[in-house]
Amino acid sequence: MSIRAGQDNTNLPWVEKYRPSSLDYVYGQHDTVDTVRKFVQDGRLPHLLFYGPPGTGKTSTIMALAKEIYGKNYRNMVLELNASDDRGISVVRDQIVNFASTRQIFSNGFKLIILDEADAMTNVAQNALRRVIEKFTKNTRFCVLANYAHKLNPALLSRCTRFRFQPISQEAIQLRINDVIKQEGINIDDDALQSLLKLSKGDMRKALNVLQACFTGLDSPSQAITSPMIYECVGAPDPQDIEHVLDTIIQENWEAAFTIMNRLKLEKGYALIDLVNGFVDILGGYQLEKMCRLTILKGLADIEYAISRGGNDAIQNTAVIGVIKKGFETQT
Ligand SMILES: Nc1ncnc2c1ncn2[C@@H]1O[C@H](COP(=O)(O)OP(=O)(O)O)[C@@H](O)[C@H]1O
Ligand SMILES: [Mg+2]
Repeated sequence: MSIRAGQDNTNLPWVEKYRPSSLDYVYGQHDTVDTVRKFVQDGRLPHLLFYGPPGTGKTSTIMALAKEIYGKNYRNMVLELNASDDRGISVVRDQIVNFASTRQIFSNGFKLIILDEADAMTNVAQNALRRVIEKFTKNTRFCVLANYAHKLNPALLSRCTRFRFQPISQEAIQLRINDVIKQEGINIDDDALQSLLKLSKGDMRKALNVLQACFTGLDSPSQAITSPMIYECVGAPDPQDIEHVLDTIIQENWEAAFTIMNRLKLEKGYALIDLVNGFVDILGGYQLEKMCRLTILKGLADIEYAISRGGNDAIQNTAVIGVIKKGFETQT
């Protein structure tokens, strides 16, 4: 595969190139967007806390909101801090206090301080932040962003209005991805698109990154992106491979199953745990008798546990085949 450099003139990673330029382009978070917009319209923006899994639009939403509030005054009125760059208390004390206490020349509204990845801050820093928030509430609003609310100091939490960012629905991711496909002129088949949506698990950043990685890896930009490419890029085993091994185990004799399984592990670099997870996924869609399903799931669960405890791979390999064969022997 070749890397095509300088293909588009902006040359930005797509997660930046397609960062929502306004709240209208934040997909799949309607309730939150509507509510914060209303706060601003009513002129009563509280301190905010956005929390939830990565790639769901927390940073994008507050940046878009800030642009909506301040327009070209953005630079003077907004301070963006990434708390995980410097976890110490000095960030809180110096930068925030400095920014919050300087007089505003251009406008008499409040200033906005965005604290990204605040759950990476030390507890001491969070405490200091709480006091700073209190002190500057008259002319400053804070927006705290975090993956986990429970990692934040309760006293800090209680000062903010909380919004949970859900994993983005597949439909919403698809809408955004379709924009990108059109704009970049990507050739992607429907199967691949569905795989991309499924493997992204509600993370828009992941969806964009995987799509861009696949696109850059093509031999020519007009080549179609296929489902196996998506799986390879994510590092997840291709379900077709997994199903092939499973069928062999069910239908063929022991030696054949063993050979196929080992060949696939060698050629594609799959770990046994990938196969076990894949089998569970696929068997979930099969019509099986109760006893068969029970036997297999119980057996695979034991194997998963054994692998996680560092069990011998060769022994676990054969155990997987044994468990599945045993399960299917109970089918009448
Ligand atoms: N809800 C969303 N709507 C549209 N794009 C999104 C959304 N969430 C994430 N993205 C895309 O993913 C990238 C990362 O999003 P970001 O807002 O930084 O996520 P978070 O802060 O929740 O980890 C953005 O640049 C944008 O391209
Ligand atoms: Mg973020």
